[in-house]
Amino acid sequence: MEVARTRAELREAADRLRASGSSVGLVPTMGALHRGHLSLVEKAVANGDAALVSIFVNPLQFGDAGDLAAYPRDEEADLAACEKAGVAAVFAPSVAEMYPKGAPDTVVRPGPLADELEGAARPGHFTGVATVVTKLFSLAGRCRAYFGEKDYQQLVIVRRLVADLDLAVSIVGCPLVREPDGLAMSSRNRRLEGADRESARGLFRALTAGKQLIMAGERSARAVESAMSEVLSHDTPRPDYSSVRDPERLARLEVVDRPVRLLVAAGVGPVRLIDNLAVCPP
Ligand code: PAF
Repeated sequence: MEVARTRAELREAADRLRASGSSVGLVPTMGALHRGHLSLVEKAVANGDAALVSIFVNPLQFGDAGDLAAYPRDEEADLAACEKAGVAAVFAPSVAEMYPKGAPDTVVRPGPLADELEGAARPGHFTGVATVVTKLFSLAGRCRAYFGEKDYQQLVIVRRLVADLDLAVSIVGCPLVREPDGLAMSSRNRRLEGADRESARGLFRALTAGKQLIMAGERSARAVESAMSEVLSHDTPRPDYSSVRDPERLARLEVVDRPVRLLVAAGVGPVRLIDNLAVCPP
C-alpha cells in the first residue's frame, strides 16, 4: 500500500492506478477510522475500484479551535486498518501541504442548504467541507467517491456540488453503520464515556420514535418532529434539531406522504452528535 504525503504524490498515485487499468475509488476521511469508514472501502473494492483513502483533519471545516484540537487522530492504526482492508493508496498530507498559502482565498460556497441544520449550528462548516472535497476531487482526478449516509446533509451537498461544477466524479452514498445498541458509528464516539455513552443512544431512540409514529399513520411532519424532540430533550443534555425532510434536497415537508429522512442532532458530553433515518410511510 502506497502512502502519499504530497499533492503531487497523490496525483501520481491516482494516475498510475488508472494507467494500470483500475478505476479509482476515493474515500475521503478525517481518520480515526471505524467500521463505517471501512464499509466505504469495502464498497469501493466490491465495485472493482482501487481504493484510495484520504486521511486529513481539515481545519477549514472546524469553527471551534478546541474541537479541532480534540478531534481524534491515530494515523498508525488508520494505516494498518487500510492495509488490512486492501486499500491501494492512502493520502495523508499535513495542513501545510494541503493549504501551502494558509487558509485559501478561494473557497467553494455551497447553496442555502449549507446554512440549515448542521450549517446553522456550525457556520462555515460546509464551505470548509466543499472546499477540501473539491481539492481532493481535483487531485484524485476521474473517480468514484464514497460518502457515508451518516453525514447525510454533507452527502446531499456534495452531490449538488459535483452536479453544479460538472466534476468528473461519481458520488456513491453508502448506508450508515450502527453499534449493536443503535448508536451511529462516528469517530467522535471515542470521546464518549459512562453516562454520556448512554445519553448518546437518545439520538437513535428519537429517530425510532419518529419512525414508529409515521408507521402508525401520523402524516403531520410537525407532529413527528415534536415527538422526536421530546425524546431528544429527555435523553440528551443538549438537544438541537429534530427534522423531517425530503431525501433528495433536504427541503422541509409539511406532510409525510412520501419517503422521508428524519434527522437529529444533540450535544452529549464533549461532542456534538448527528444521526438520521430513512422512513417510507406505509
Ligand atoms: O466526512 C468527513 O469525514 C469530512 O467532512 C470529509 C468529507 C472527509 C471532508 O473533510
